[in-house]
Amino acid sequence: MSLFDVYPLFDVTPTKAKDVFVYDANETEYLDLYGGHAVISIGHSHPEYVKNISEQLSKIGFYSNSIQNPLQQSLATKLSELSGCKDYQLFLCNSGAEANENALKLASFHTKKHKVIAFTNSFHGRTSAAVVATDNKKIVAPINAQQEVDFFELGDLKAVEASLANNDVCAVIVEFIQGVGGLGESNATFYEELDKLCKKYKTCLIADEVQSGFGRTGDFFAFQKYKVQPDIISMAKGMGNGFPVGGILIHSNIEASYGLLGTTFGGNHLACVASLSVLNALEREDLMNNAKELSNYFKQKINSISVPVTIKGRGLMLGLEFEFPIAELRKKLIYEHQIFTGSSKNPNLIRILPPLTIKKEHLDQFFNALNDALS
Ligand SMILES: Cc1ncc(COP(=O)(O)O)c(C=O)c1O
Repeated sequence: MSLFDVYPLFDVTPTKAKDVFVYDANETEYLDLYGGHAVISIGHSHPEYVKNISEQLSKIGFYSNSIQNPLQQSLATKLSELSGCKDYQLFLCNSGAEANENALKLASFHTKKHKVIAFTNSFHGRTSAAVVATDNKKIVAPINAQQEVDFFELGDLKAVEASLANNDVCAVIVEFIQGVGGLGESNATFYEELDKLCKKYKTCLIADEVQSGFGRTGDFFAFQKYKVQPDIISMAKGMGNGFPVGGILIHSNIEASYGLLGTTFGGNHLACVASLSVLNALEREDLMNNAKELSNYFKQKINSISVPVTIKGRGLMLGLEFEFPIAELRKKLIYEHQIFTGSSKNPNLIRILPPLTIKKEHLDQFFNALNDALS
């Protein structure tokens, strides 16, 4: 049987990984500035993470959500402590798209409305409601197309309010810093007014923190740079450091009832232990501060780049925008310099999404390689 061929692949076969490095069978060492798409938060094969998951697996790896699983409450407690999101409830699922799907569905249950507002260059996943709120017509199938989504430019409060005034919008979904779309961001006025508009028109504000959450921007969540209080916060990627786990934080104004949401695998024992291990490492190793410090270092280093470049993003969710398409440059970085980087919807932009454990010496290695590849 062949594989359904949907992924263009680089010719690299990782067989092991440690912290910020990935190795193939010949022991070739690759510097990972991509984190498997912003997933590796506390470093590959983090020793505590490996130990905790292995020990949990030898006890009990999975049982359904019909029994008591105190690990879920431990995760909720630790998450609330570290994120500072005190007035929220936790629902666990398995991926980013599933988190957003549940967020949108819950917003619709709660408000009894059906329409969604999303923004240009957004990416929210590939499931039914999430994909329609994603600004990429190519991945929306006819079966999804009945969902109604209004797209506006980030910053266009007038258009958002005109749509909200129709009183049929259940949710405004927004990445406070865009990932796949290419690190687009608006400003405090926009986000804070958007939050107020959502409250005025009784529409749920969904912060999609699937990529930006769990410390990647230097804050626990990217929205925390602003004075906003989302109704729902979606999470995945860095939450499990590679173990598939996602979730939503739901403001206490939204009431649960039996059967409203549900999943077989979500919140299983292994996923909870993986995510708890991530939270403990983020705290113990002060990784959010490391993200801030290394971000500043990265921003200083761009002065050493020999061609015009614009830097975007914050923390360790960064982009380098060149005046030319970067596909060949990324290939050179992988095959000639053994460095993984990311792409985005913007063909001129390289994305830098390393594990939050990265050190200055690794960034020095990157900038040396980049200058060499550019020359
Ligand atoms: C902001 C954002 N939301 C949602 C998703 C979808 O997550 P997943 O691929 O885990 O379904 C992604 C994935 O890149 C993302 O970047």
